[in-house]
Amino acid sequence: MTAKRVTVLGSTGSVGANTLSVIAEHPDRFRVVALAAGRNAAALVQQAQSFRPDFAAIADPAGYPTLKEGLAGTGIEVAAGPDAVAEAARRDAGWVMAAIAGAAGLESTLAAVERGAVVALANKESLVCAGELMMAAARASGSMILPVDSEHNAIFQVFDDRCREAVRRLILTASGGPFRCASRDRMAAVRPAEALRHPNWDMGAKITIDSATMMNKGLELIEAHHLFAMPGEAIDILVHPQSIVHSMVEYADGSVLAQLGTPDMRTPIAVALAWPERLAVTGERLDLSVVGRLDFEPPDPERFPALALARKALERGGREPAALSAANEVAVAAFLSERIGFLQIADIAGNTVAELGSGPLAGLDDVRSADREAREVAERFVERAAAAGPR
Ligand SMILES: NC(=O)c1ccc[n+]([C@@H]2O[C@H](COP(=O)([O-])OP(=O)(O)OC[C@H]3O[C@@H](n4cnc5c(N)ncnc54)[C@H](OP(=O)(O)O)[C@@H]3O)[C@@H](O)[C@H]2O)c1
Repeated sequence: MTAKRVTVLGSTGSVGANTLSVIAEHPDRFRVVALAAGRNAAALVQQAQSFRPDFAAIADPAGYPTLKEGLAGTGIEVAAGPDAVAEAARRDAGWVMAAIAGAAGLESTLAAVERGAVVALANKESLVCAGELMMAAARASGSMILPVDSEHNAIFQVFDDRCREAVRRLILTASGGPFRCASRDRMAAVRPAEALRHPNWDMGAKITIDSATMMNKGLELIEAHHLFAMPGEAIDILVHPQSIVHSMVEYADGSVLAQLGTPDMRTPIAVALAWPERLAVTGERLDLSVVGRLDFEPPDPERFPALALARKALERGGREPAALSAANEVAVAAFLSERIGFLQIADIAGNTVAELGSGPLAGLDDVRSADREAREVAERFVERAAAAGPR
């Protein structure tokens, strides 16, 4: 069997490292062509030494000397800067993992889609801010986008494309995060270290905070709309604290199909890596007799206003999802650096989109300008909130 040629964008992150760990279990089946990271040049050097790609790219030019020195004499080509990351996406790999966090992943994800690669998509923000463009690019190039987000990967596994007109509803499950049962007063006083302790999943910082505010589920609603061509009204969100049922599809005959598994990203990554086949991966297996019970409850819109913001952004469309996602990135970073409180994340995201209003989104330039303007406005709200002092 010829090895599948794969590239990992965001290789030093949580999804990136999990992808490489699955690949490492099957060295004969995969050949790593390129790796790309943001700032962690030392980790990228280690990964490149182990996986021997043709090309290693670091976005932050400050990491270039470490990368160059660390890989000297290996024959691995190295480069730095955002163009180098996009170049990694263009290298000749039939399969690309898009696992850069935030809007920073947009250009490289789109570059892989435009050249017709199979794209395993973890970088949900790129689909949130440029969903129509991304899906149109995939149709034009023949690129297959395979969802890696566990919920969308679950839906992908149980969505019967042969009778898509019989699909009534997608049901996205949500763990509810660490503050599922917390009062608003309690949430107002939350510090970053607490918000970073997710009850079920071990993930990067930004998505962990997004899970705590439930903005993550809001972004996933928009992601699901684009991936499965379903209207927002046909996508429900259901809190499921055990994170065992990863999502569900309801059909016209009343059947509800679900995908279950332990909360381990290596499973959806393996599904995407091997598709349309299946790959064996090590890990804890699901034992429902140990889990014992599966609980479900509706989300609380009062304590988690991010959900309504995302739903509204999806309804209004145009530039609004891009603006919401960018404002949220700014607010999450401000919360992590303790400039604003936890509840102010959604406030700032909401105030930013309210100030900017919506507007048409015709191309990538509009996405970029919506992103830039939202970051400027959100930063002003952050400054005001930080100046007002502790809440
Ligand atoms: N973690 C999960 O379980 C999970 C589940 C579902 C979906 N996702 C999605 O997957 C994406 C990645 O999440 P994560 O948790 O893996 O995040 P993470 O641990 O924070 O990793 C982010 C990765 O992106 C890289 N990066 C950041 N800025 C970059 C830039 N400008 N150019 C190139 N690379 C850049 C980082 O590099 P450095 O570390 O070197 O700076 C790192 O490799 C997010 O969109 C997230 O929503 C994650």
